[in-house]
Amino acid sequence: MAIIYEEATRQFHLSNNEISYIMRIMPNEQLGQIYFGKRVSDIGNTEKYFETIYRDMSPVVSQDDISFSLDQVKQECSVFGKGDLRQTAMAFTFSSGSHVTDFRYVSHEIFEGKKALPEMPAIVADRRKAAQSLWITLKDKHSQLELTLQYTIMADEGMIIRSFSILNNGSDNVELDSALSVNLDLPDSNYDAIMLTGAWCRERHVERFPLHRGIQQAYSLRGHSSHQYNPFLALIRPDGGEHQGEVIGMSLIYSGNFLGQVEVDNYDTTRILMGIHPTGFAWTLKEKESFQTPEVVIVYSDQGLNKMSQTYHRVFNNHLIRETWRKRERPILINNWEATYMDFNESQLIAIAESAKELGVDLFVLDDGWFGKRNSPQSSLGDWWPNPSKFPDGLERLSKRIHELGLQFGLWFEPEMVSIESDLYRRHPDWLLSHPSMTRSPGRYQYYLDLSKKEVVDYLYKKISLIIEGANLSYIKWDLNRSMSEVYSQGRLPDEQGMVYHKTVLGMYRLHDLLLQKFPDLLIESCASGGARFDPGMLYYAPQGWVSDNTDAVDRLKIQAGTSLVYPLSSMGTHVSAVPNHQTNRLSSLKFRGDVATFGTFGYELDSTLLTNSEQKEIKAQISFVKSIQPLLFDGTFYRLESPFSGNRTVWLVVSEDQTEGVIGIYRTLNQVNQGISMIKLKGLKESTCYELTCENYRERFYGSELMTIGLPVSGLFQESDFLSTIITMVEC
Ligand code: DGJ
Repeated sequence: MAIIYEEATRQFHLSNNEISYIMRIMPNEQLGQIYFGKRVSDIGNTEKYFETIYRDMSPVVSQDDISFSLDQVKQECSVFGKGDLRQTAMAFTFSSGSHVTDFRYVSHEIFEGKKALPEMPAIVADRRKAAQSLWITLKDKHSQLELTLQYTIMADEGMIIRSFSILNNGSDNVELDSALSVNLDLPDSNYDAIMLTGAWCRERHVERFPLHRGIQQAYSLRGHSSHQYNPFLALIRPDGGEHQGEVIGMSLIYSGNFLGQVEVDNYDTTRILMGIHPTGFAWTLKEKESFQTPEVVIVYSDQGLNKMSQTYHRVFNNHLIRETWRKRERPILINNWEATYMDFNESQLIAIAESAKELGVDLFVLDDGWFGKRNSPQSSLGDWWPNPSKFPDGLERLSKRIHELGLQFGLWFEPEMVSIESDLYRRHPDWLLSHPSMTRSPGRYQYYLDLSKKEVVDYLYKKISLIIEGANLSYIKWDLNRSMSEVYSQGRLPDEQGMVYHKTVLGMYRLHDLLLQKFPDLLIESCASGGARFDPGMLYYAPQGWVSDNTDAVDRLKIQAGTSLVYPLSSMGTHVSAVPNHQTNRLSSLKFRGDVATFGTFGYELDSTLLTNSEQKEIKAQISFVKSIQPLLFDGTFYRLESPFSGNRTVWLVVSEDQTEGVIGIYRTLNQVNQGISMIKLKGLKESTCYELTCENYRERFYGSELMTIGLPVSGLFQESDFLSTIITMVEC
């Protein structure tokens, strides 16, 4: 791994064994992008790679060289208003009304490790040698703005982390209208785009389409990252797939409004932009104030999507998830939501906890309905104290009983919300995010609290801390059940309103930070009506997230497969629920449901007091099996071998780092009569090692080479019916 600056050519080369990222200082002293992709071992003067050509109508940098136009060169920091007429990463408005900037290189700094970002989640790589960073400072010729482009490269990972900060050294206010973290210009447009799209109950489905001229976007203007698009996009060569072809992935470490945009211009070059969405954003930079953008993790893979995903999994597991939970097994939990919804009493909960303990569960989670006067979604958000009609003596007695059983205790919160029907709203109507004299739009009867205000975050911290301490909680489920509208912070000045979306996100991060400082072992599971805020920003605080409110195992195959494009198995909340399924009404076997949930942070979402003896027996076996393979699932390398988006069969494989063991999940949704034997070709094994493969009635030995080239024969492994699955373990023999 190295970051090299060559004074003679004025070019930067960030490289490791996987990738090269090359840029140079252009004649106008701005930063030009040269190359991002597979490692280049030796580079000469890269000036020859610039597209310098005279084009009618394009403004040029100077009359002395009419072939040099910002409208066509590849850039690192495109800015609106000068000569780049494409959509740009940055835009400013000065007090004069001008938008023009002319940033010029001043200096750079190369250092070991990586700095943390102020107030925001970020990749952690402070150990020497694990990472190197490059900060390049540019100054605007016409103002006192100072721009710092921030890059980090890590040893052996095909990945670059990018962000920037902007500082106003002048006395005049400057408005930052757009601050997208990344601009990456590519020399051609021969790609397909991949986005993770969806809606409630069908999150993160993989959508692939060829790039076309013009603009294509993944975005959110919902105040959170959203069901609709994940803050991720990838470009893949048209002949690329899971295991072959060049891929560039971009993942934004942020949980609010975002934009991921690809623009193919009329010369077939491609510009990718990613960062905070400029709509609804206007940040006033006063004297000596600065703005920091969130980070984008840019991954390059020369072997298709699987390799891209594996890079994201390793980097997020090792450098984003908090150290306390990094690579640590997760408690097997039972959550009462689908068992009782809000209609429960203490003895019912204790009965569920007692029966769950018998099954081998570690953690009992009490979901929505335990606080204020909450018996329906219509009231009490914000009143974080025990519901007196359900817990007349508080939560302590329930907590004591749960702990006596040897279980940990967890509770549901929706900290960012307030109901009009609540003591909190009656006391602090001005804490509601909306204009006091304008109409406002309810969502699930509730509204956003204004977390851009310090006092609101402090209040929530105090109330939630009291409950965590009093009920001795090990876990909280942090939910969010509506999107933002009418975003207006009462009492703030007009020129501060454009900062509110982002400040609420920072407030939400701060609340996480405060709670985790006080309760460092607390396990937070993020949730937003299922997976509407499943993003790397949340992953920094909450090592696992509820992937979807859809607990149907057949639908979960797609949701989990899509999620795995970016997020590791250790981050996916996957539970077994009752049948008929509450969302799809589908019947599937307990085995199928368990086998699908195995590839995530396992748990149950059902009434365990209603299980038959044989179901209890099966669940006990499921739990002890999952516990035995969790370290492998969370530490190993994950392969998507067959996709639920393209056929009837889904196959997942995890291989341990030392390639001595593995686990294969095979799922077939619809029964197909009279089929032949088909082969599943495995990956990532040692060719000459003998592996023994085992599942219920099956035991067979293969060489790694056989499994990877001829494949694993399947057919006899299945009984004949719909929704069949098997999990095969493999160990070196
Ligand atoms: C939405 C979540 O996704 C569910 O799991 C559940 O916690 C409900 N909210 C509770 O209101």
